Amino acid sequence: MTTNGSTPGATLTKDTAPEDGKPIVELRGAGKSYGNVRALHGVSLAVSPSRVTCVLGDNGAGKSTLIKIISGLHQHTEGEFLVDGEPVHFTTPREALDKGIATVYQDLATVPLMPVWRNFFLGSEMTKGPWPVRRLDIARMKKTADEELRAMGIVLDDLDQPIGTLSGGQRQSVAIARAVYFGARVLILDEPTAALGVKQSGVVLKYIAAARDRGLGVIFITHNPHHAYMVGDHFSVLRLGTMELSASRDEVSLEELTNHMAGGAELAALKHELAQVRGVDVDELPEEEDLTAPVAAAPEETS
Ligand SMILES: Nc1ncnc2c1ncn2[C@@H]1O[C@H](COP(=O)(O)OP(=O)(O)OP(=O)(O)O)[C@@H](O)[C@H]1O
Ligand SMILES: [Mg+2]
Repeated sequence: MTTNGSTPGATLTKDTAPEDGKPIVELRGAGKSYGNVRALHGVSLAVSPSRVTCVLGDNGAGKSTLIKIISGLHQHTEGEFLVDGEPVHFTTPREALDKGIATVYQDLATVPLMPVWRNFFLGSEMTKGPWPVRRLDIARMKKTADEELRAMGIVLDDLDQPIGTLSGGQRQSVAIARAVYFGARVLILDEPTAALGVKQSGVVLKYIAAARDRGLGVIFITHNPHHAYMVGDHFSVLRLGTMELSASRDEVSLEELTNHMAGGAELAALKHELAQVRGVDVDELPEEEDLTAPVAAAPEETS
């Protein structure tokens, strides 16, 4: 495990890669500036097959910027971005997709009134018959969608129902199964559980694990350390655009991860401030030591 300020980029990736498999996607000291705004700086990350890499961070931490670089929407302005060991500079999401990097956005690009099977094939419909009288091969699309969803353990009563009638968790699951079917090697999920309740979140977490078991490298973006810890193999915490923690599962406990997300030192300062405010009983709040507890080795001071 490494913490911000202690170890520069390259060694972080050693932690994130499993011993045997080579990472599919790797960032080495990567960063991105939007004009004068430095949204991301010195971030290293490796995404390997059959592993779930969780990227955690508060609002504005740089999570979306990170996935925009990997999914080809934006280009990094510092460091390296490698796919299969080769440096890349994607200029469109199509190029990322061609390398097997698929992104499922929270607002899901689905057409709510269209049936489930139709959404499954949206933009890549199966056709039959000779040109120029090619027609949609509805029967084959329905059958394939059904088989693929079942293979992921997703059982829907009726694939003809409009996708808008499914629950949020089910819709995310269909999007995951779709990415798997269309040959994704890396699946990026941008806060897939953010708008969901406990039960629905569980549904999505289950399919994240299913995608991993089918050999995909999954990047799971979330605010929620509990969700991350349920399926994650590696945890990267971003804060103000830099990586403040990069640890594999055996190096960090859920409590430690939660502390990192909560910003232990900031909470301690807030507690101190609250003590000045009449009516707030700070003794009821957790001890500062609990909030600032270091993770394994104490994080060193950052500049
Ligand atoms: N297109 C842009 N132009 C200028 N600044 C940007 C742009 N996109 C993001 N930023 C800035 O970069 C920083 C990181 O933003 P980013 O959207 O990556 O954070 P995030 O972790 O995804 O946050 P959230 O949890 O709110 O989605 C923020 O300070 C944001 O204002
Ligand atoms: Mg975001």
